[in-house]
Amino acid sequence: MPTYQVRGEVPRKRHIQFRDNGTLLTEEVMGLEGFSGNESILYHLTSPCRVTKVDEFEPIERDEWVPDGHQHRHFKTMAEVQPGGDAISGRKLLMWNQDVEISLCRPDEEMDYFFRNGEGDEVIFVHEGSGTLETIFGDVPYKEGDYIVVPRGTTYRFRPEGEQRYLVFESPGLIEIPRRYRNEYGQLLEHAPFYHRDIHPPTELHTHRDRGEFRVKVRIRDGYQTYELDYHPFDVVGWDGYVYPWTFSIHDFEPITGRIHMPPPSHQTFEGRNFVICSFCPRKLDFDPLAIPIPYHHSNLNSEEMIYYVSGNFGSRRGIEVGSVTLHPSGIPHGPHPGLAEKSIGQTETHELAVMCDTFHPLRLTKLAKELDDGEYAYSWLEERVPAGDADQDPAGVTSHF
Ligand SMILES: [Fe+2]
Repeated sequence: MPTYQVRGEVPRKRHIQFRDNGTLLTEEVMGLEGFSGNESILYHLTSPCRVTKVDEFEPIERDEWVPDGHQHRHFKTMAEVQPGGDAISGRKLLMWNQDVEISLCRPDEEMDYFFRNGEGDEVIFVHEGSGTLETIFGDVPYKEGDYIVVPRGTTYRFRPEGEQRYLVFESPGLIEIPRRYRNEYGQLLEHAPFYHRDIHPPTELHTHRDRGEFRVKVRIRDGYQTYELDYHPFDVVGWDGYVYPWTFSIHDFEPITGRIHMPPPSHQTFEGRNFVICSFCPRKLDFDPLAIPIPYHHSNLNSEEMIYYVSGNFGSRRGIEVGSVTLHPSGIPHGPHPGLAEKSIGQTETHELAVMCDTFHPLRLTKLAKELDDGEYAYSWLEERVPAGDADQDPAGVTSHF
């Protein structure tokens, strides 16, 4: 999506003969929004329609938890979410609405099949681990701190190295670089917090010519449909276009700071359909002599705010630790804990690293959220509940957006 790319061999013009050892290749236009959106054109050794078996369809079942009370919540996930499954089957849904699904994933198995999300874009934030996302467009190496952006229609397989921990966003809408960061030609503007050099498209394209038995699981119609093929699905000789997977490291986000507090949109990294994903990164804090470096209280009157804490010292945010998820639902105010505004005055920097997702429609919770909910967070603004010693902690890790 970010710029035009080409890998492997493509013919001089679109829609003309293109052969491999005399055999006419199959041209596939993989496009968004009919024939009006971004597209890539791929040249296959075998027709991508060819399947040897259509296996059973597995519908997606979401185990909803409808809580009794409407309140702020805190879910601990670091040790509480156990490893299991692979990079697809191991996704454990925490919250969702009609625009986005947010899952935790600690895969400990290799994928012995290929996957394609046929109905949604994905952003996978890599909290721990590295490896390669092998895709039909070529290899996409990833490492800790990367957002892996996978457009719908991309056939892929994770090849993890080391322990893995992901925060996964899946959306039936497009997940894109915010429009306001780009000029009319798509180039990232000077004021954008990242540039094209920070965006890493597929490196090498590998054309697989093997025959054998291969399975491709496709997410479609709110379920998974597995197909069996008698050829390797990465049979592409070349491709070009604007649709392909890429990575962007949260460590390459250039934070925008101001003399007084900058609002959350300054941290925006991606825009989705009725949601945004933001990156809170280490940075210098507000520098006016009268500035209060942590946020004002705010009411999310028509948005829900989920924050995933990646690293940093959250000691002054009671009970929050690495891997914590907070949810501040719509309609009720939230803000820094008691005493923190005063304590933050004079702080010059923050070491936080966190990923936030704000949705414009209410989020529903799963039974996993019920298991992980600490039940206490809604009362954490009561001064009398501040544990002894908290007042002395260093507020440098105060997350800027509460
Ligand atoms: Fe907030």
